[in-house]
Amino acid sequence: MMILGVETSCDETSASVIEDNKVLSNVISSQLIHSEFGGVVPELASRAHIRLIGPIVKEALKKAGVKLNELDGLAVTNGPGLVGALLVGLNYIKGLSLALNIPYTGVNHIEGHLYGTLLSQNEYRFPIIFLVVSGGHTQIVLMKDNLSYEIIGKTRDDAVGEAFDKGGKMMGLGYPAGPVIDKLAQKGDKKFHKFPHGLSKYDTFDFSYSGLKTSLLVFLQDKTEDYIKKHLPDICASYQAAAIDVLVQKALKAAEKYGVKRIGIAGGVAANSYLRSELQKACDKRDITLYIPELVYCTDNAAMIARVGLEYLKHDKKSDQSLNAYPSMKLTSLK
Ligand code: KG4
Ligand code: ZN
Repeated sequence: MMILGVETSCDETSASVIEDNKVLSNVISSQLIHSEFGGVVPELASRAHIRLIGPIVKEALKKAGVKLNELDGLAVTNGPGLVGALLVGLNYIKGLSLALNIPYTGVNHIEGHLYGTLLSQNEYRFPIIFLVVSGGHTQIVLMKDNLSYEIIGKTRDDAVGEAFDKGGKMMGLGYPAGPVIDKLAQKGDKKFHKFPHGLSKYDTFDFSYSGLKTSLLVFLQDKTEDYIKKHLPDICASYQAAAIDVLVQKALKAAEKYGVKRIGIAGGVAANSYLRSELQKACDKRDITLYIPELVYCTDNAAMIARVGLEYLKHDKKSDQSLNAYPSMKLTSLK
């Protein structure tokens, strides 16, 4: 089955052509315009998607060497995300579905990230305990089978990516700050300062990141600019450890509780080098298989959306022209 996927939920405009499990093209344009505002500006994102969607789809088809009339189906993210941004991709794909007279399906962005990680593996088996870690989500998902999920824990306030971005903003590191903190932390000492490890002592798979953010603010308040500059790698390493250690701890605990020998990580923060190496070490010790996404599938991309679309269309789950965009769309199993 030849599928064209489109992703416009936030600040990446992406289109991809896949043929069954094979990715023929995956074109991603990250909108740089938001960095000067310290966060994604929804109105600007929607307008940039409108400008980019046509050329990006054309490029994805060209790179794949596929013509529109060779496509069997279409897939598009219809939530969660920024509503104006989602509507650009959704309406584009609805129009293409009508024009080509082929089915399309709406796809959950988080489900996309899970399949982005699976797309990176030569082989995989279920069940898998997944850490979903992005700018908008922090969840532990028990993926029991294809298209079958149980959310066993989630953040009670901020997402871990948000903690990176907002913490980075306080330290003047620009947006998005996750990759910058990751890089600086590699040269720092994580024991420099002990930031709070949210809910780590509680018997729950939920997370909390608002206390961590506040504690950084308080920590920085009485420090001079020179002091912060001098110790920036140490502060980043300590802050990062507080954000990540609790993810590792809870993923391992979930695997133990549910008797699962496979853990996966998915979403933008899955690119974090400290998370990848700490979790790998811990999994090796316990004989647990770790599924890590290729870096290109950590960033928002359309290949992961096309991959879920393929699964849906194989199960005859098609969407009709009345489908809407849902900013807070929940991850649900295919019934
Ligand atoms: O999945 P994603 O591209 O967008 C959402 O769906 O939210 O995730 C973006 C998030 C941002 O918060 C960004 O700072 C974070 O992922 N991120 C990282 C790293 N690379 C991206 N956080 C920590 N370390 C990284 N290397
Ligand atoms: Zn994402």
